[in-house]
Amino acid sequence: MSEMAAIPHGLPMERDAGPFDPPRQITRLRDARPVSPLVFPDGHEGWLVTGYDAVRQLLADTRFSSRQDLGIVHVPYETPGIPAATEPSPQVPGLFVAMDPPDHTRLRRKLTGAFTVRRMKQLEEHIVEITERQLDEMARLAPPVDLVKEFALPVPSLVICELLGVPYEDRENFQVNSAKFLVKDQPLDEKMAAYGAMMTYLAELVMRKRAEPGEDILSDLARHDDLTIEELTGIAFLLLLAGHETTANMLALGTFALLEHPEQLAELRAAPDLIPDAVEELMRYLSVADIFYRYATEDIELGGETIGKGSTVVVSLLAANHDPQRFDHPDTLDIHRKARGHLSFGHGIHQCLGQQLARIEMRAGFDGLLRRFPTLQLAIPADEVKLRTDMNIYGVHELPVTWTETTR
Ligand code: HEM
Repeated sequence: MSEMAAIPHGLPMERDAGPFDPPRQITRLRDARPVSPLVFPDGHEGWLVTGYDAVRQLLADTRFSSRQDLGIVHVPYETPGIPAATEPSPQVPGLFVAMDPPDHTRLRRKLTGAFTVRRMKQLEEHIVEITERQLDEMARLAPPVDLVKEFALPVPSLVICELLGVPYEDRENFQVNSAKFLVKDQPLDEKMAAYGAMMTYLAELVMRKRAEPGEDILSDLARHDDLTIEELTGIAFLLLLAGHETTANMLALGTFALLEHPEQLAELRAAPDLIPDAVEELMRYLSVADIFYRYATEDIELGGETIGKGSTVVVSLLAANHDPQRFDHPDTLDIHRKARGHLSFGHGIHQCLGQQLARIEMRAGFDGLLRRFPTLQLAIPADEVKLRTDMNIYGVHELPVTWTETTR
């Protein structure tokens, strides 16, 4: 193992190159050895994949399993007080993001109809309405306000609740618990308690849907007799979690990034037809869902290295999306760039099921926010914004903003 290229104690989390760039150590490592050995904090050796081509190839190769019950998942972060795992995590019924074919195929197929481009297009007008209503409410407040609380979190939460048929009044349960669940070094018992509370809530909900189905995605699923209550609960958990945390962080961190690039922000305000490309570029540039795991089911050649059977492989989408071999000046935000081809929604069979929905939410969100708040600015110095380096989904904990005028 080359000493130069290995990171000795897990992954660095500190954003020492700025809030939007990969940690310096990750960039150096990618440039030296895009598929490189990694020593986990528990002492085990595995692999870290950071180069664009290698990440894309890996995600397309189903010999790299997504299952967490095949072997112990070694976590690349120091987690004080948490003993290293000694057994593989059991498979959670319905959680198809952590399954391989044929189980993954069977479950994902039941949902593809609900998330087609056509279906999402039909929802677009309604999503714009939800966004504008939320902006009306924010405009009534006296600034400064926290953009996360008043806008970035409510919009995707309202949308996913409505799609799934989860009462929005119950958001406390999933917003608070999913946030606890996503903290990297949350004590294990608290993590499990948060997970348990969400699963209990969702199990009761899907049981009600099975007894009395309504007009929503969970009810449609509950009509399938071949899905158990446990599977329905796992699917609901996955959709609810994936459906609000990721987009919320893109809206908040994306707004922070635009406020820090005032010329591009002015251009976007002047020409809103640039928004779809700007959304793709923000997705690439920010890569809020960064770290994913795979497990090698056989010896596999990747980027000139041999990944041994049984290895845990850690993938950094952020590093791949900032690879200069694929994107020129990757650490520069450029809304004119054609950033499609970024890996922020993953690639291969697990590629994000909700990506069209997320795109519509982000386009409506940025469009509405920039139009309605033409003088939006940070209410605190940029270096005081609290970054989510402690969370599995990157973003900001809060984004205090202010304004002097609003428009309709
Ligand atoms: C999968 C990112 C929004 C549902 C994924 C994956 C990524 C991702 C990287 C691949 C995981 C893997 O390969 O292991 C994002 C980002 C989003 C977003 C950055 C927002 C900007 C959404 C939304 C939904 C959603 C709104 C709503 C339903 C899912 C599901 C999967 C998934 C169900 C698992 C797919 C499978 O395993 O076949 N997402 N996502 N995501 N996403 Fe998203």
